[in-house]
Amino acid sequence: MLARFFVGLLLACVSTVHAQTFTDCNPTKEDCPADAALGTNHTWVFNGTQDENIWATTNGKIDWTENGAEFSIKKKLDSPTLQSKFFIFFGIVESHVKMAKGGGIISSIVLQSDDLDEIDWEWVGYNTSQVQSNYFGKGNDSSFDRGGYHDVSNADTEFHNYTTYWTKEKVEWWLDQELVRTLKYEDALDGKNFPQTPSNVRFGIWPAGDSGNSLGTIEWAGGEVDYDKGPYTMVVDRVRVHDFSSGKEYKYTDNSGDWESIEVVEGNSTTVTELNKPPPKSLSEKWDELPTGAKAGVGIGAGAAGAIGIAGLILYCIKQRRKGRLENALDDSNWNQDRAEMSNFQTDWKQSELRNKGYQPVS
Ligand SMILES: *[C@@H]1O[C@H](CO)[C@@H](O)[C@H](O)[C@H]1NC(C)=O
Ligand SMILES: *[C@@H]1O[C@H](CO)[C@@H](O)[C@H](O)[C@H]1NC(C)=O
Ligand SMILES: *[C@@H]1O[C@H](CO)[C@@H](O)[C@H](O)[C@H]1NC(C)=O
Ligand SMILES: *[C@@H]1O[C@H](CO)[C@@H](O)[C@H](O)[C@H]1NC(C)=O
Ligand SMILES: *[C@@H]1O[C@H](CO)[C@@H](O)[C@H](O)[C@H]1NC(C)=O
Ligand SMILES: *[C@@H]1O[C@H](CO)[C@@H](O)[C@H](O)[C@H]1NC(C)=O
Repeated sequence: MLARFFVGLLLACVSTVHAQTFTDCNPTKEDCPADAALGTNHTWVFNGTQDENIWATTNGKIDWTENGAEFSIKKKLDSPTLQSKFFIFFGIVESHVKMAKGGGIISSIVLQSDDLDEIDWEWVGYNTSQVQSNYFGKGNDSSFDRGGYHDVSNADTEFHNYTTYWTKEKVEWWLDQELVRTLKYEDALDGKNFPQTPSNVRFGIWPAGDSGNSLGTIEWAGGEVDYDKGPYTMVVDRVRVHDFSSGKEYKYTDNSGDWESIEVVEGNSTTVTELNKPPPKSLSEKWDELPTGAKAGVGIGAGAAGAIGIAGLILYCIKQRRKGRLENALDDSNWNQDRAEMSNFQTDWKQSELRNKGYQPVS
């Protein structure tokens, strides 16, 4: 029993040490590492556990339940986000989502590239009958006429199918198999504002109405977030991602940010390799596979003399966890910066929208 505990502790410890790596590099300004490609078509049903080699979490925790991945704001400034480690270079993203209802809360699906091309679906928590669409090219946020508004019923209690279809000629937003918006390359400032570089997929929830944000943002989001009335939860049931390119990586060959400048590097995508891996073994399977000698050794180690060893190991684990937390905190600060940039776009956009349409808070 104790021996199993010992092995369990060791394995648990090892698996928490795994750190996430993020690149924070804009290829229109500097040389950046290539983006890992998806290079296939795959459906993820979010009813199990997170595959950490394919998806990374930032800014909080996602609850993996049999009903889907749940993104919750439980306390001030929570904003859990899931982002793919893979990138697609044109393709389809089909997401089945329930938005989070609540004033001040934004739910979103974002395709975003290293040079800040962006294609969005976004829900503002005070209106459960609407989803917004938007796009940005190379981070250009100087125009306020890009948002689209689409009717959808009971977006908070029913899963709907939000699909982005993206080629080098156009972006289409499909809602429950109906085409609700088309953006052509030439209509996005002759392509200059057209999203056209390899992008990863991000799901997230964000308290735009936090009291620390600008008044414009808070108003746009439908008022200040009342954290006592939470948690506010967005649910992602499944997502299908189809990369229209295939290969190992996508590389920027110059700083133009044009799709023609992207080189598709041949080879096997690490995500495809990961998807083809046999499922991970359970703890007891690992135990059963240990040679008898090792089991006995663990047994002895866990005996009286081994107690010190266990204490040491626990201490080591705690240290490693602390290190993991520090790494997470560092990631989070990067992400917060991204968020701040994103929220700048949003603030500007919202403020203009506010002037145009006004806003009505809903209780
Ligand atoms: C992509 O995968 C889905 C299932 O995950 C399948 O239904 C669909 O036909 C596939 N599409 C292509 C073009 O292979
Ligand atoms: C998750 O959903 C898939 C497809 O609907 C199903 O085959 C699988 O058994 C489910 N897994 C769990 C843990 O519920
Ligand atoms: C919510 O969205 C619907 C559908 O787009 C719209 O008709 C309605 O005016 C919106 N309500 C508010 C309070 O903005
Ligand atoms: C940004 O986009 C606006 C139109 O949406 C355009 O007028 C402006 O020139 C663009 N800026 C750059 C740097 O391309
Ligand atoms: C979701 O919508 C897309 C676009 O219309 C469609 O291709 C896909 O089959 C839909 N998925 C489901 C499960 O109905
Ligand atoms: C890709 O994987 C296949 C089989 O999985 C292998 O035969 C091939 O050598 C790999 N290609 C590269 C470039 O590694």
